[in-house]
Amino acid sequence: MDDLKKFIWNMPKAELHLHIEGSLEPELMFALARRNKVEIPFATVEEVRDAYQFSNLQDFLDIYYQGMSVLLEEQDFYDLTFAYLTKMHEQNVIHVEIFFDPQGHTDRGITFATVIAGITRALSDGLEKYGITSNLIMSFLRHLSEDAAFATLAEALPYRDRIIAVGLDSSEMGHPPSKFARVFEKAKAEGFLAVAHAGEEGPPEYVCEALDLLKVDRLDHGNRALEDAALVMRLAESQIALTVCPLSNYKLAGVTDMRAHPIKKMLELGLKATVNSDDPAYFGGYMNENFEAITESLNLTKEEILNLARNGFEASFCSDTEKQAMISRLEAYGA
Ligand code: HPA
Ligand code: ZN
Repeated sequence: MDDLKKFIWNMPKAELHLHIEGSLEPELMFALARRNKVEIPFATVEEVRDAYQFSNLQDFLDIYYQGMSVLLEEQDFYDLTFAYLTKMHEQNVIHVEIFFDPQGHTDRGITFATVIAGITRALSDGLEKYGITSNLIMSFLRHLSEDAAFATLAEALPYRDRIIAVGLDSSEMGHPPSKFARVFEKAKAEGFLAVAHAGEEGPPEYVCEALDLLKVDRLDHGNRALEDAALVMRLAESQIALTVCPLSNYKLAGVTDMRAHPIKKMLELGLKATVNSDDPAYFGGYMNENFEAITESLNLTKEEILNLARNGFEASFCSDTEKQAMISRLEAYGA
């Protein structure tokens, strides 16, 4: 395993499913709380970590939205994003596609401009200092209304050149993709690509809706698609990528034993599965820890590890030329 750990660590990788607010480590949460004079209901970093025990998605989301309350100024969004990129540099991640949740901030009185300025300034520094390329995805909070999503889309239009895609996250059950079909139709007409969380907790029907009604270019999670054989065939044939998040699935109890994690099965079924961290500060690991966890519990080979990494580059929203350059780096590494 030590040999494979080293192999994973040094391998060039892309991350395609990362909520930037979910990369807020307790240490930075405390520092920002102090800087911004925001009260948080924890006395120590250890207390924060102890509170990260979740039995489902909603348990996590309640703490995740509360954690965001320390983010107020442009510099806070910069520090958050740059800390993540520094970590990715250490882990040999060379390309990232990150989500942000504008409504988690605008609903607290922070302007869309503040959020996007801080994040994009860090992304351009990440390119300059670390050579990490990036794309930004704006997610709608699905527990909020269609009207609120339309208003958020309107706010994003002036920043159209900095946002590659729209996404859909937050509480899945009871908030099917169909609720946002018209918003996604408008977003696509405006030139955004589309992704959506589906089949994380929700049934296979939600995955079908994401494909048919939202016309997603990539699926976030998608685990429960495996319950529907026809859907599996469709995903295999179309090669629509799944951004799978192993440690997240474990922490949110979608998967109770890592040895039963479905990612290896997905590969065997011909699905284009990728490895991602989701909310690394909350789920116990970044990219390399996710790769390590599945490698150990599922006895993955170097071949399978390289395949997963290749899928990450192929499923990215980069140009074909950019993808080919990253894949060549990976191939050189594998050889
Ligand atoms: N699922 C849904 N919404 C989210 C997640 C997630 O894992 N992380 C942050 N918002
Ligand atoms: Zn997610």
